[in-house]
Amino acid sequence: MHFKQVQLVINFIRRKIDSLIYMDNEDFELAAVKDKFNENCDYVHVKKNSFYDAYMNNDSLLCHKWEQYMHIYNKHLQPFKSENKPVNILEIGVFKGGSLELWNRYLPENSKIIGIDINPDCKNIEFHNKNIQVFTGSASDKNFIEENFKNHYFDIIIDDGSHISSDVITAFEAFFPKLNPGGLYIIEDLHTSYWSSYGGDFLSKKSSIEYLKRLIDSLNFKYIQKFKKNLPLDYIRQLSTLNKELASITFYDSVCILEKYMCKKSRAFKNYLSGEGAAYSDLGMLCNKDTKFERFFR
Ligand SMILES: C[S@@+](CC[C@H](N)C(=O)[O-])C[C@H]1O[C@@H](n2cnc3c(N)ncnc32)[C@H](O)[C@@H]1O
Repeated sequence: MHFKQVQLVINFIRRKIDSLIYMDNEDFELAAVKDKFNENCDYVHVKKNSFYDAYMNNDSLLCHKWEQYMHIYNKHLQPFKSENKPVNILEIGVFKGGSLELWNRYLPENSKIIGIDINPDCKNIEFHNKNIQVFTGSASDKNFIEENFKNHYFDIIIDDGSHISSDVITAFEAFFPKLNPGGLYIIEDLHTSYWSSYGGDFLSKKSSIEYLKRLIDSLNFKYIQKFKKNLPLDYIRQLSTLNKELASITFYDSVCILEKYMCKKSRAFKNYLSGEGAAYSDLGMLCNKDTKFERFFR
């Protein structure tokens, strides 16, 4: 065996151990949860056309998602369902192809579904729908992305690929610019960002979760001007660029969702006043029935 192969095997075993430890801790934690908290728990009624419905009614290719992802996808993809217009979706990480078929079942008719996987076997998966397409290559290979996705733009991008912190960051930097206005960039399985076998660690500057936490400051870029001189230029540039495009960052257990503005924020948000005393104040713009609000959010 070559040195590289030995390294791959060692990494594989370390990852298995990391996930086993995670499972054990999870059971322990769950057992410790007090009943009071559980009293508020309820079941979700699986409605027709909901995400739960699309996930559970899978009689085709294997798909792998965690329990909380059902709720997260049901909530965040609802606006795309309500608009009922075809969407372009990209998922990094095809595996057996089940999730690509899931998007096809769940999203509006005629949506275009694209998957990327490093495993060349994924090219041979037989999908039941023509609007599903698979590209084989690495989502962290800039040349592969440039060659294949130069003119591709997506409404939804999901990173369910290697889950290695450096790959997650490289993919985000390459693909976030390819998100359409109002689009969502969704990163799954972020628990791996705490594992050294995935290039992460708790509070490590190199971990994907810490990288994402740092992006929060782009939302409030206007308010950090006076600290700029103490920060690396690259980071300032990134925050400034994202400030115009990044509308929100939502964190869940293992998942992060980054939402793009509907239109570029090329000015600061306005301060509107309504109600008693508004007319006599010079604090901001007056708001009345005819006020038109620019649509920044989906
Ligand atoms: C967790 S599985 C994907 C599961 C699938 N999305 C689902 O929900 O059923 C991860 C996949 O990512 C692929 N992968 C690993 N590294 C990758 C990379 N650098 N670029 C693209 N795909 C990668 C693996 O081959 C594997 O099929």
